[in-house]
Amino acid sequence: MNASTSDTTLAPAPTVGHYRIDPVRTTSAVLHPASIRPRCDLGHRQAARIRCQRYQALSATVHAVLDAARFHTGYQRTPDGWKFAERLRGQIPRHHAAGGLSAWVYSRIRTGFSDQDTRTKEDAMKIFVAGATGALGSRLVTLLASRGHTVVGTTRTPSKADSLRAAGATPVVLDALDRDAVIEAVTSAEPDVVVHQLTALTGFTDFRKFDEGFAATNRLRTEGTDHLLEGIRRLPVRRIVAQSYAGAGFFARTGGLIKTEDDPFDPDPPAAIRRPAEAIKYLERAVLEAEGIHGTVLRYGGFYGPGTSLGKGGVFLEAVRRRLFPTVADGAGVWSFIHIDDAATATLAAIESGRTGVYNIVDDDPAPVAEWLPALAAAIGAKPPRRVPAWLARLLVGEQGVVMMNESRGASNAKAKRELGWQPAYPSWRSGFHVRLGTAATRAA
Ligand SMILES: NC(=O)c1ccc[n+]([C@@H]2O[C@H](COP(=O)([O-])OP(=O)(O)OC[C@H]3O[C@@H](n4cnc5c(N)ncnc54)[C@H](OP(=O)(O)O)[C@@H]3O)[C@@H](O)[C@H]2O)c1
Repeated sequence: MNASTSDTTLAPAPTVGHYRIDPVRTTSAVLHPASIRPRCDLGHRQAARIRCQRYQALSATVHAVLDAARFHTGYQRTPDGWKFAERLRGQIPRHHAAGGLSAWVYSRIRTGFSDQDTRTKEDAMKIFVAGATGALGSRLVTLLASRGHTVVGTTRTPSKADSLRAAGATPVVLDALDRDAVIEAVTSAEPDVVVHQLTALTGFTDFRKFDEGFAATNRLRTEGTDHLLEGIRRLPVRRIVAQSYAGAGFFARTGGLIKTEDDPFDPDPPAAIRRPAEAIKYLERAVLEAEGIHGTVLRYGGFYGPGTSLGKGGVFLEAVRRRLFPTVADGAGVWSFIHIDDAATATLAAIESGRTGVYNIVDDDPAPVAEWLPALAAAIGAKPPRRVPAWLARLLVGEQGVVMMNESRGASNAKAKRELGWQPAYPSWRSGFHVRLGTAATRAA
């Protein structure tokens, strides 16, 4: 079911947006402390801050590279030195292991620390991230700050202000449903770009109450979007990049299994998905058709990785571990995934490229439930998922559960790769699940 067969090769075009980077020279430069320097002629304090952020990011990267290398080679540190862990041998397809690792290392280097970075001080932007503490918002803030952008990040929760500050953003405590407060926050920040990452999905676990679980998010996608747009209309530079969805359950259930940005959403979704789907369509229309505003819509696939429901301790990952996430009927529904760090680098690429329009932000490997769910269970050392017939699933989780597991469609990332110059570091969930969620990741943690 691979949409692309090239997910094992190192990305040939070393660019992010319009910045060209030489991976070989960058690799050696990156490992030298002298390379941790700001990319342009900035003031002393700002330069020191950037140097510090880059050092922290570099240190995290080096550790992550070692973790991944340890997993892929099968060697582990023991009291007697480095030993080959026999039980890792043969657990992952070699081509995925090699491709996943090299692409991932390359992407880490590409997005953060290049000596070849040709941007100037004038390229740095002021970016207002609405929803800066969410699964994606928090990764994005760190990435934007590490690129030298000035970030203003919002949260509803005063106690999260310090963590936003530590990540490199100026915190703003804000209820996105308060129109006047949003307009005031946006206009006083005067950003070059507003990034809309507002959702309220923490705690959403019950597929039977899908509509209820999405009610607050629906409001953020309708009223919240309107409030941000009202603020942006008062700015000299008017640009918004907003979160939409290309995961399971929203594309039309007819025609091909892999959908592009031109393919329609489901015109007749199950009742419980209707309002969430309407809210998503509302957001997309509002952002793309707002007069005088440059709008970009990023339709992310299903998130996995830190802070997500398919991350360490996440509700759906735990459900898979406990065999509470079954395959329904023959599991023919196709899902598209994206690692949360790849979602962040795609968002960065969209912001810096200045492109408008709709982009699917997914990996290269849309796959049916019958394929990815047992692979996920195996990666985390769980027993294979149970299988339930459609009639029973309908009783247990409702029609929307059956549709998502059995009829959903995946998405193509060709446009995002072509126009944003973006490559996912995890081109396939096959390597991503193993490296970031699997037993090796747990041991390394
Ligand atoms: N494509 C996908 O698969 C996808 C997309 C979205 C979410 N999810 C999943 O949903 C779960 C939760 O998502 P999440 O981590 O992004 O957290 P979340 O609870 O959905 O919150 C996201 C952001 O929105 C903010 N927010 C929520 N309501 C707000 C309001 N009324 N006014 C202002 N800000 C508000 C939150 O601020 P606070 O700091 O106040 O909480 C936070 O910064 C995760 O497991 C994630 O993986 C998946």
